[in-house]
Amino acid sequence: MKGEAQNEGILERIFGLKDQRQKFLDLYWEGTFEDYLKIFEENPKIARNAFQRVYDMIMLYGIEKIDEGDDSIIKYKFFSDPFEDGKNAVFGLEKPLMTLVNALKSASHSYGTEKRIILLHGPVGSAKSTVAKLLKTGLELYSRSKEGVLYSFSWQDEKDPNVWHSCPMHEEPLKILPIESRKDYTKQITSKHQLEYRIEVEGNLCPFCRYYFNTYISKYNGDLTKMLRDKVKVRRILLSEKDRIGIGTFQPKDEKNQDSTELTGDINYRKIAEFGSDSDPRAFNFDGEFNIANRGVIEFIEILKLDVAFLYDLLTASQEHVIKPKKFSHTEIDEVIIGHTNEPEYRKLQSNDYMEAFRDRTLKIDIPYNLRLDNELKIYERDFNPKKIKSKHVAPHLIEIASMWAVLTRLEGPKKANITLLQKLKLYNGKSLPGITEEVVKELKKEAQREGMEGISPRYIQDKLSNALVKIEENGCINVFMLLNELESGLDHHSLVTSDEQKRSFKELLAEVKVEYENIVKNEVQRAICADEEAITRLFTNYVEHVKAYTTNRKIKNKLTGEDEEPDERLMRSIEEKMDIPDSRKDDFRRELMNYIGALAVEGKKFDYKSNERLQRALELKLFEDQKDTIKLSSLISGVVDDETQEKIDIVKTRLIKQYKYCDICATEILSFVASVFARGEAKK
Ligand SMILES: Nc1ncnc2c1ncn2[C@@H]1O[C@H](COP(=O)(O)OP(=O)(O)OP(=O)(O)O)[C@@H](O)[C@H]1O
Ligand SMILES: [Mg+2]
Ligand SMILES: [Zn+2]
Ligand SMILES: [Zn+2]
Repeated sequence: MKGEAQNEGILERIFGLKDQRQKFLDLYWEGTFEDYLKIFEENPKIARNAFQRVYDMIMLYGIEKIDEGDDSIIKYKFFSDPFEDGKNAVFGLEKPLMTLVNALKSASHSYGTEKRIILLHGPVGSAKSTVAKLLKTGLELYSRSKEGVLYSFSWQDEKDPNVWHSCPMHEEPLKILPIESRKDYTKQITSKHQLEYRIEVEGNLCPFCRYYFNTYISKYNGDLTKMLRDKVKVRRILLSEKDRIGIGTFQPKDEKNQDSTELTGDINYRKIAEFGSDSDPRAFNFDGEFNIANRGVIEFIEILKLDVAFLYDLLTASQEHVIKPKKFSHTEIDEVIIGHTNEPEYRKLQSNDYMEAFRDRTLKIDIPYNLRLDNELKIYERDFNPKKIKSKHVAPHLIEIASMWAVLTRLEGPKKANITLLQKLKLYNGKSLPGITEEVVKELKKEAQREGMEGISPRYIQDKLSNALVKIEENGCINVFMLLNELESGLDHHSLVTSDEQKRSFKELLAEVKVEYENIVKNEVQRAICADEEAITRLFTNYVEHVKAYTTNRKIKNKLTGEDEEPDERLMRSIEEKMDIPDSRKDDFRRELMNYIGALAVEGKKFDYKSNERLQRALELKLFEDQKDTIKLSSLISGVVDDETQEKIDIVKTRLIKQYKYCDICATEILSFVASVFARGEAKK
């Protein structure tokens, strides 16, 4: 007894909350046909067709306008992390997604695209499945929201009044009304509402429902009202792929094992005995993928691997919105058909005859790889971030370098001789480079039409990142060189990189990003070494003192000896050279600087070297030069480190860890690495 009471408490605690209970009741609403009509009259949108529903779902999340030169781009927020779980976002691809949404929009107005198969086409791993999955998952959630409610109905059993049979295709309840009166009625109701598109409930009932309709209507001598009251029950439906309601997926298997019943349903042999005939709709399972996906979306994976016989089914399904189950007449369907195929597959079939018919009835949307570094980065950051990888460290710039390489492999060589591929990448990423106008960037994009349809896929990068990650022991750190090796050695077994030439070019690009990486870390180490603000300020003050003496033709007092000396030309030049100020301009520069500092002083302000990035960088570099030897980075290579040096190195390391997010391991690694780079440089000198 006591246990029971406790159990009840638990259930109450979970489901007993008032709003929870109401939510639950709303989700599983059931009522009479008349109840349903009341709901419909208030909100005719519940009877939208699948295209209208999917389009509205996308629009519900809102849009964002991005200005990109001449063409303004609309970003549909639905595609960027719609369910706020960080898992489902599509990064970039604004233009193809615009094409997709426009197709849905025009289909929801019945402008013709509703008669097409939407075909996502692109290289392997370009997010085609991701986009399709988003639509499916989105629709599941949408059907649970108040904006996306929809309904279907059941028939009472002929013998047992307590048994109800749901329409196997979850059809819209209004479909029970005879076509003519249905048309008049919906027209009359919808005209009272402001709707963006026309809502029409088209077509006949499915064979299963037709059977019940015909049986009952004759039993009631044509009294539709009475039949609807007694024999029909309406209920809310929740679209769900798992429950096979409104969401379907079809994947081609080998030809012999597949027949059309998977798409349009099959005879239920057990029930033939009960109903006596194989053409009795009660002895048929209308559970093919097309049947169950009614009202929602059906996805065709690798659509071009489909057997030709299926393809024709598919074409009529999209063109005429009907399917033909075995033994039964044509049956209307209302669903968005979306397929995908990758580039190699598509090319293989391009010369094929039946492709002609197919191409004619599809709306092909190219889904290329990302060409914008920032977007590519986000794909990997989603899985390789400190929140997810707790016991291992991912070295700074690792993801950036991998993404950079991936994007580089996709870019076409710029035809302009003065732009490198890496510069092109940076331009595409929104960076401005001196002397290169927006016009030039536009030209670059224009001259490379197929860009993004070839190159390294995100999946390859993801795989290699995971490989690198598992190879590292707990509390270890994945460094960039290791990943670069992983990326390189993988190329030899990459099934999609077949030509030696391509392989060679990909490897060359790896070497290129390696150089880029070396520059980045060299820079960071330099900055960490001279991040000593006091020392920089001292250096700057010193410099200004000498410049002041120089411009006013005076001498300067040596602090140690107390003697008057000429301003130190070497000191001044060593800083100015780092700002690319030629000897011929030095007088002007020094005078301008003094005037500027003077003008500020008049206003009671002080000049801050940090306000001038070039000057700051020059000071840092000078300081680095002065300190490099005292820190003796080279001792890191020889392994002989005295205490004093170790202390200095530790300070630098701490800065790397604090300011640049290194861990102890990778900070040590890049310090040795940079030391060796400098050692090489010294040796060259
Ligand atoms: N633009 C992108 N935004 C977000 N993730 C992406 C993007 N491009 C690729 N990905 C990621 O890359 C992986 C492969 O994507 P997906 O499976 O959708 O590709 P696909 O185009 O269906 O590939 P295939 O042609 O091999 O079927 C997934 O992990 C996906 O999240
Ligand atoms: Mg796929
Ligand atoms: Zn039905
Ligand atoms: Zn690390």
